[in-house]
Amino acid sequence: MIPLCIPRIKGNEWKYIKDCLDTNWVSSVGSYVNKFENDFANYLKVRKTVVTMNGTAALELALRTLDIGVGDEVIIPSLTFISPVNTIKYVGAEPVFVDVCRDTWVIDTEKIEEMITPKTKAILPVQIYGHPADMDKIMEIAKKHNLYVIEDATESLGSLYKEKAVGTIGHIGCYSFNGNKLITTGAGGMLVTNDEKLGERAKYLSTQTKTVLENGGFYHEEIGYNFRMPNLLAAMGCAQLENIEEYIKIKRENAKFYNELLKDVKGITLPVEKEEVRNVYWLYSVLVEDDYPLTRDELIFKLKENGIEARSFFMPIHEMPTYKNCKCGDMRITNQLAIKGINLPSSVELRKEDVESICSIISN
Ligand SMILES: Cc1ncc(COP(=O)(O)O)c(C=O)c1O
Repeated sequence: MIPLCIPRIKGNEWKYIKDCLDTNWVSSVGSYVNKFENDFANYLKVRKTVVTMNGTAALELALRTLDIGVGDEVIIPSLTFISPVNTIKYVGAEPVFVDVCRDTWVIDTEKIEEMITPKTKAILPVQIYGHPADMDKIMEIAKKHNLYVIEDATESLGSLYKEKAVGTIGHIGCYSFNGNKLITTGAGGMLVTNDEKLGERAKYLSTQTKTVLENGGFYHEEIGYNFRMPNLLAAMGCAQLENIEEYIKIKRENAKFYNELLKDVKGITLPVEKEEVRNVYWLYSVLVEDDYPLTRDELIFKLKENGIEARSFFMPIHEMPTYKNCKCGDMRITNQLAIKGINLPSSVELRKEDVESICSIISN
């Protein structure tokens, strides 16, 4: 089977994790926690980083840090993994769904303003599959309406927008280190911000709002959370991060090779990379249009028969039972992409001959 997206673990992972085991620093305090936060901040050129137990926790923490809660609305695309939408509900706020662009598959900035109400507190663009949204436009709208921007950059770590790391442009950005992501800690996440105060608040909330008194006692001024990542996993994160640019190079080369082999296949629409953007192609994906001889699902089954794992695009969240009564705009493009989009194998380990065999099935 050629898998959809599996991690590469070939660096210092064993060495750093062994160090934690040898020194007994296995839990949520330890040098690798600090190192991972510092290394990640340096890599992204961002001021503050707060490591968390997963990407979902980072997103919930972002909302809590910005004091978003009951009575508030958050604008979000419906074409997304469900996690960021769920976190809006966790804090008691309401998601408001906006359509996406046909070419980049991320939130359509032309359709945001019509959904803004006096209750709107934030815009939450989800940078899916590796391509960022038009962040200049989003920041302009946010400024005009006095809104926060929380970037869900879980799928776009390493992507750039006008030379800035995706996830560092909004007020807060969130990443995931789940096993299928560009770098992994097994499970993990990170919140980042250039606002020192927000960063400190996020760290405080994520560590049970704990103040250690002179006598060693713990004092808690308000409700806090345990969103911490253990040192063991942070050790793995440090090792993975050492190789991130190599992983990106390989992903981009694989995407280029896929593009070359699929560019003339009738009915297949390729992914884009807009000007002034670096797309990491976290999941290399294409659209199966109406003039392709098979439907998208038929193609998924055909690939499966040939030992190739592929996946359909996210199903629209505004159609899920929990969210079907939420406010949403015209979802024409989201609905179209949900039945046409397909994610193809995208592991760093993917070989050229794998891409060739995948593309020969698609083109034949
Ligand atoms: C777009 C998006 N947001 C959030 C998450 C949540 O991250 P985690 O699984 O680490 O909680 C994921 C994926 O896992 C995701 O793809």
